Amino acid sequence: MALKAYERRAHDLRRRIDDANYRYHVLDDPQISDQDYDALLRELIDLEEAHPDVRTPDSPTQRVGGTPAAGFPPYVHARPMLSLANAFDEDELLAFDARVHKLAGIDGDIAYTCELKIDGLAVSLRYDVGRLSAGGTRGDGSTGEEVTANLRAIKAIPLALRDAEVALPRHIDVRGEAYMRKSDFARLNADREARELAPFANPRNAAAGGIRQLDPKMTAERALSFYAYAVGEIDAPNPPQTQSALLAYLRALGFRVNEHAHGVPSIRDVLAFAQEWEAKRDALDYEIDGIVIKVDDLVLQARLGTVGKDPRWAIAYKFRAREARTKLLDITVSVGRTGVLNPNAVLEPVHIGGTTVSNATLHNQDYIRTNDIRVGDVVTVIRAGDVIPRVVGPVLELREGDLPEYTLPTVCPVCGSDVDRPEGEALSRCTNATCPAQRRERLRHFCSRGAMDIEGIGDQLSAALVDTETVRDVSDLYHLDLEKLLTLPRMAEKSASNVLAAIERSKSRGLARLLFGLGIRMVGAQNAAILAGDLGSITALAAATEEELLRSEGIGEQIARSVVLFFAQEPNRAMIERLAAAGVDVTAPLRPREPVGVLAGKTLVLTGTLPTLTRDEAKDLIVAAGGKVSGSVSKKTDYVVAGDDAGSKLEKAESLGIAIIDEAGLQALLTAG
Ligand code: IVH
Repeated sequence: MALKAYERRAHDLRRRIDDANYRYHVLDDPQISDQDYDALLRELIDLEEAHPDVRTPDSPTQRVGGTPAAGFPPYVHARPMLSLANAFDEDELLAFDARVHKLAGIDGDIAYTCELKIDGLAVSLRYDVGRLSAGGTRGDGSTGEEVTANLRAIKAIPLALRDAEVALPRHIDVRGEAYMRKSDFARLNADREARELAPFANPRNAAAGGIRQLDPKMTAERALSFYAYAVGEIDAPNPPQTQSALLAYLRALGFRVNEHAHGVPSIRDVLAFAQEWEAKRDALDYEIDGIVIKVDDLVLQARLGTVGKDPRWAIAYKFRAREARTKLLDITVSVGRTGVLNPNAVLEPVHIGGTTVSNATLHNQDYIRTNDIRVGDVVTVIRAGDVIPRVVGPVLELREGDLPEYTLPTVCPVCGSDVDRPEGEALSRCTNATCPAQRRERLRHFCSRGAMDIEGIGDQLSAALVDTETVRDVSDLYHLDLEKLLTLPRMAEKSASNVLAAIERSKSRGLARLLFGLGIRMVGAQNAAILAGDLGSITALAAATEEELLRSEGIGEQIARSVVLFFAQEPNRAMIERLAAAGVDVTAPLRPREPVGVLAGKTLVLTGTLPTLTRDEAKDLIVAAGGKVSGSVSKKTDYVVAGDDAGSKLEKAESLGIAIIDEAGLQALLTAG
């Protein structure tokens, strides 16, 4: 039967996209531009939408699909996924070779393959008649987790095998390492830090987390890659007979196979390979923690067998840990662009794995305290690839005398303003909105959509304005003119006047948006709107006490504290005055406050059984009198109304010193007005 034109086109598009993918992700040799690639993919998506019958499960449009999983079902490996015994020095490698000779009864040299030991996560991929049908993690070696949807999101993993050079296996389990490139890792962490999320410790954790995402879209975003290095069960015509042939075979089927892997005639060459890569590992864009040595002959491998989970025919040569001891000379504090105070270790310079380390991160106050790190200590420092060196902890046996505990400064080392560390948070921050360390980020936020929405001032222009000191804090925006703007790079008359017009328009956004734009800790768009509606002007807000702020719906102690602290900073007050003087609207329409009544503004908690009133009746009476009923006791509670069998709420009220009344007391309150 003849194919319809659109079927031919779909087939052709799939082939071209697969090919482009393969060249880009497997061969690292792209031949078409990203735009052309996107255009092909777009066309195929449209075509498949118009004609769903042409969509195939291995179509490149089907990499990220389906709904997020609730958890991962078990994935049973048809053949166990083995682990590896370790060798830590050359003697142990030679001992391994001697053992292989003895067990095999061979006198002459034994050929091995040497491979890089990629530091990622081992996974197994099942292909039936050339198509990826399932995949799972290693788990305990016999059962892992089924993560097929996520593995499909890794572009270096073929959805269908190539049959151009070798006959397709009827069935094959391909094993290899899913990993994250150092460059992708650095980007991921930079992005996480910008969003104030904890960075990943190393690429392996980031990769493992990526594979275990419940939503394959998240896996796709992590940009993982894959190197194939082994097979499990295989049913194929003419299967390879050596590990080196196996690697070539996997390559022919369309997998990425590490280009540095190669066969060597004897253990002497293995030693050279190990030395070479221990020295060169930093030049790679992925982390390796050693090399893997495998007996090349697969028949001999089978004869040697395994002990427990370790094959007798392979071993991992682990590189020396990149760790050293040195003296902690000082702790300096830098301020990040969101105002976070970062403690850094100043170290007596020490060589770790080929580089000299004289600085390392100490993360935050808690990290320093929990690990009991003190200036003057001899400390252990580790360096893991591209990751910034980290102080692990002190060598306590070597501590001399009484060293003082370290505490982070309570004022910002850049501008001298108060530092705030809200309860339960690990990070300490500078509270000054005009602090030079935070200028760029604050300006960018102020101009963003949800805040003052100043079109035209994005990342680049914010950076230029701050770096040229044209803008030191956001109030300077309202003193810009054409002349000043035109001195900036890439700024033409037209765009400059557009920017000025946008700044002018922003003056009337109102207090809620302004408040959000000021970037007060814990005051997001919603809290900003609540505070603006309840207080009506920035003057009222700046004068409000914590207690007054607490009366607003949803404003808790932490938020109230943060607002008061913000307005207590002299530079912030001065900046706000400048904003108001420049004509920025610092008011908001007042929202009608809570209903008036004898209990207006009061919060009551009911507990236990009252003699005559039911819970609901009591509640109705309180609400009718303008009061609020809350389910739990806190500092914000004004009265606890206790009946019989009152439990923990009563105890809590007592401990907080909150007024406790009975039903008669409540009635008295209600009539008091
Ligand atoms: S072979 C004998 N080859 O190392 C079969 N493993 O410690 C064992 N790994 O779980 C696997 N690169 O995650 C093999 N070229 C390589 C490897 C490699 C990294 C990892 C893998 C495995 C662990 C064993």
